[in-house]
Amino acid sequence: MDNIETYKTSASAKINLFLRVCGRLPNGYHRLYTVMQEIDYCDELVVSIGGEGPSEIVVECEGRTDIVPKKNLCYKAADRFYASLHNKLAAEGSTDYQDGFPRTVIKLTKRIPSESGMGGGSSDAASVLIVLQEHFGSPFTEEELGKLAVNVGADVPFFLYGGTCLCESVGEDITPLASLSGLPVLIVKPAEGVSTPECFKAIDSAELQQIDNDAYTEYVSGLTKEKDSLSDKLEAFLAGGDLLVNDLQAPAIEAVPQIGEVIEALKEAGAPYAAMTGSGSAVFALFDSEEKANEVAEAVKNDPRAKDCRIELTQTV
Ligand code: C5P
Repeated sequence: MDNIETYKTSASAKINLFLRVCGRLPNGYHRLYTVMQEIDYCDELVVSIGGEGPSEIVVECEGRTDIVPKKNLCYKAADRFYASLHNKLAAEGSTDYQDGFPRTVIKLTKRIPSESGMGGGSSDAASVLIVLQEHFGSPFTEEELGKLAVNVGADVPFFLYGGTCLCESVGEDITPLASLSGLPVLIVKPAEGVSTPECFKAIDSAELQQIDNDAYTEYVSGLTKEKDSLSDKLEAFLAGGDLLVNDLQAPAIEAVPQIGEVIEALKEAGAPYAAMTGSGSAVFALFDSEEKANEVAEAVKNDPRAKDCRIELTQTV
């Protein structure tokens, strides 16, 4: 029997600490200026490479009928990886894998909700790229893998890094920042989701606000300095003040008004900061103490404005 290698890995979610939409590109995508933060809330993946059976990519997700294997971003990631590897080997005159790449079976256990703005699908895809890059002995440079990643999805390059990063352009221009790890995060996800393309379409009909580049550069430079305590980390984040805006929040609230109600409920319950992540519909609140986070979580659980919401307490990574 052919050798089969199995990799077990997890794929973390993200929140956008702020998100500015700076312009529209000819291909319909948007230029973004955002800080993404990894959180300790994960999908699990088991990737098996090799073994008997046809040379194909298989994506399985038990108990989820809404996941269409060939449309899943994990499939797209593996497919793009193998296409690029094929081209690279051909250019080098290599005859490796002439009979096809090894059978690749990706088993997904989903926990990160879809249509939440938490990047679950993108993170799964990045984990697949990381596994394949390792399995095949790092055939691509960091830059090549980044390009491959952004072609799979705008948020995928961030997940090759994780932690706290400034992400620019469509999402491929990544600058790692100082760690903001360990901050308690409360996630409140309304049952109704938001479609990312619809949300971006909605802002196209409104005039984009010019962003104050100098003010953001100064703020983000403060986020490059290492902080020791949780309160210093939260303070450094909150120093953004009026710059802490998510341009997708207003159109998302138009589509799902509960997003706005949940943000109000979190603020009233005492959260130092509450906003929507990405294109929603998940809302996050950040804290510097677990006690305070628990207190707000309890209050929100009993608040009718958070009816039918999924509520999870986690932390920044
Ligand atoms: O790349 P991804 O599939 O994650 O993007 C989903 C949708 O979000 C795109 O089809 C596009 O409508 C929108 N988007 C955008 N500009 C970005 C990222 C995403 O317009 N920078």
